[in-house]
Amino acid sequence: MKLLQLGGFATLVSAIGAVVPGSTSENHTYDYIVVGGGPSGIITAERFAEAGKKVLLLERGFGPTVATGANETLAWDPSLTPIDVPGLSTAVGSTDLWEKYICTDTAGQAACVLGGGVTVNYMVFVHPPDRDFNDKWPQGWKWHNVKSAADRLYERNMGSTLPSQDGKRYDQGLYTVLSNFFHRIGWKSVDMLIQPNEKHRVYSYPAWNIKDTMRAGPVRTYLPLAQKLPNFRLRMGTKVQRLVRSGSQITGIEVETASGHSEVIMLAPHGRVVLAAGALSTPRLLFNSGIGPKKQIETAQKSGVTVPPLHEWINLPVGVGLKDHPIFSIVVQTNGTFEMPDPESLLNGTDVGDVQLYRHKQGVLTQGKHRLIFFTSNNVDGQTRYYQGSCAPSGDGELTITAYMTHGLTSSGVVGLDMNGNTVMEKSPYLQTAGDRKAASAFIQYMIDEITAPSTGFQLKTYTNTSAILGSLTSGIHWTTTAKMGTDDGRHNGSSVVDTNTKVYGTDNLYIVDGSIHPDLPTGNIQAAIMIVAEAAAAKILAQN
Ligand SMILES: Cc1cc2nc3c(=O)[nH]c(=O)nc-3n(C[C@H](O)[C@H](O)[C@H](O)COP(=O)(O)OP(=O)(O)OC[C@H]3O[C@@H](n4cnc5c(N)ncnc54)[C@H](O)[C@@H]3O)c2cc1C
Ligand SMILES: *[C@@H]1O[C@H](CO)[C@@H](O)[C@H](O)[C@H]1NC(C)=O
Ligand SMILES: *[C@@H]1O[C@H](CO)[C@@H](O)[C@H](O)[C@H]1NC(C)=O
Ligand SMILES: *[C@@H]1O[C@H](CO)[C@@H](O)[C@H](O)[C@H]1NC(C)=O
Ligand SMILES: *[C@@H]1O[C@H](CO)[C@@H](O)[C@H](O)[C@H]1NC(C)=O
Ligand SMILES: *[C@@H]1O[C@H](CO)[C@@H](O)[C@H](O)[C@H]1NC(C)=O
Ligand SMILES: *[C@@H]1O[C@H](CO)[C@@H](O)[C@H](O)[C@H]1NC(C)=O
Repeated sequence: MKLLQLGGFATLVSAIGAVVPGSTSENHTYDYIVVGGGPSGIITAERFAEAGKKVLLLERGFGPTVATGANETLAWDPSLTPIDVPGLSTAVGSTDLWEKYICTDTAGQAACVLGGGVTVNYMVFVHPPDRDFNDKWPQGWKWHNVKSAADRLYERNMGSTLPSQDGKRYDQGLYTVLSNFFHRIGWKSVDMLIQPNEKHRVYSYPAWNIKDTMRAGPVRTYLPLAQKLPNFRLRMGTKVQRLVRSGSQITGIEVETASGHSEVIMLAPHGRVVLAAGALSTPRLLFNSGIGPKKQIETAQKSGVTVPPLHEWINLPVGVGLKDHPIFSIVVQTNGTFEMPDPESLLNGTDVGDVQLYRHKQGVLTQGKHRLIFFTSNNVDGQTRYYQGSCAPSGDGELTITAYMTHGLTSSGVVGLDMNGNTVMEKSPYLQTAGDRKAASAFIQYMIDEITAPSTGFQLKTYTNTSAILGSLTSGIHWTTTAKMGTDDGRHNGSSVVDTNTKVYGTDNLYIVDGSIHPDLPTGNIQAAIMIVAEAAAAKILAQN
């Protein structure tokens, strides 16, 4: 079995030009080693390679598309996997792929597959408004600084509110009912892709991470460009354990291969390492490398990791400041005519009509899960807090509003490490402040009042009052701020782990580019903001001599 898997791996990676395990490869020669092939890692590595640098991208998982080696194809099309087809994004969770792709060692949900969270997510693609950067990001990261990075991203990965190539929207029953409702209560219809700054009492057709009727994202929109370059290598099935340091200098990376072997990849003397393992895994890599609160490094040591000698530990507030969007569920029975799609018949191809349309790049399978997205804000204590509602059918005439509390929230939590090497939640990031609790209650009460007004004909289901809806709280899976960027050096009682060039304080050549460094949460789903920050960070790092 092991041998078979190894054989499969070797074929798989050599087919896409990656390093075959066991073979000798250049050592001491990489200008950049990027750890983690999620959206941040792929974008950063691709931009480095494009600039002529010699780049190694290390990813612990495997490829989710046929082009990147996956063989779990659809019964009705051997060139596609379930993650490719937008209309199947709701079905991926019920396939074996989910278990294969979701990390088992993180404090909350994250994906351990090439493409990271963007490979498995519901594809909601929110272009961030200017204020998301202008409020709390440091100088050099305000919207006027990062706008060109956003333009570079959108040029390759714009998102779409109208993916079907016949120019039609499909399955619009929910949109009809809910847009009428919002129109009656005085909200405004906007195009969220074209009007990103409109985030108060507005609704829109959903914007999805879709290009050419397929799931987009860096695996499709950046990686192929890098793979054309001789100075770029992707190595999958390679889990980074820790950095090897000589004081403030990173000299190598210890990895565990798919077959369980440990190996050290040496870095060129001028080389740099970029951690892009995601906000819940990058902290582990830092703790394992002697960077973070003393308590966490000691846990890493006790769990068997070879950490640097005590005098080389760098005391930084890694893991402190964890943020996420909390989700509240509001389930509404309407008088509309719409129903839940049947993922099974779409997966197995028995829904012949929709499959046939999709072959012509049309129809409901070209669309994501949601049918309407709204935004609003409130201010109960002098602080403006934003909300996003992603609305999808959940039964006959029944819809579920996934209501996120977003930009402006004031709560944060803490991520630590346990003896098994898992990152764990030491303090929840949700509703920790009185202001956040009051604001969330006020928002929910407002929604209940509008939804249950007699003229609507709507009825709440499952959660029928404010406290029940507050109690439905789940993770938004938009983790940030576990290695915060800022000018207040965390070694000297500040709150920041990386400087405004994304370099880790107290190191010469270690950078972080992923959700960890975001000092604040965006107003909507986070992936577009993650990608913009990666574009901007790659440029800043390259500009540093
Ligand atoms: C189930 C789910 C649904 C979501 N829904 C949405 C949505 O609809 N819209 C939206 O905007 N956002 C959504 N998100 C959030 C979004 O996908 C993430 O915020 C984004 O992917 C984070 O990017 P990242 O680069 O910071 O890290 P990640 O995406 O977490 O990528 C990290 C990468 O590093 C790899 N890695 C980790 N540890 C190691 C190691 N030790 N060695 C080597 N490689 C390693 C991982 O395998 C992964 O590929 C969702 C996320 C999830 C998990
Ligand atoms: C898919 O690939 C894996 C190894 O990557 C292998 O074990 C499995 O047998 C393959 N499945 C099929 C149907 O080819
Ligand atoms: C790099 O060199 C180190 C030390 O010589 C060796 O242990 C390791 O196997 C080499 N790695 C690769 C990928 O060749
Ligand atoms: C496909 O899924 C549908 C809906 O669940 C089911 O009725 C049908 O039997 C399945 N067909 C096959 C070939 O698996
Ligand atoms: C649903 O109810 C609303 C409000 O009472 C009404 O305007 C609308 O016509 C109804 N729609 C249907 C399809 O019955
Ligand atoms: C809210 O609803 C729950 C059940 O969904 C019920 O147990 C609780 O008593 C209700 N609270 C109020 C204040 O009505
Ligand atoms: C550390 O920072 C906190 C909060 O910013 C402040 O209250 C405290 O006085 C500072 N301590 C030292 C030693 O500077």
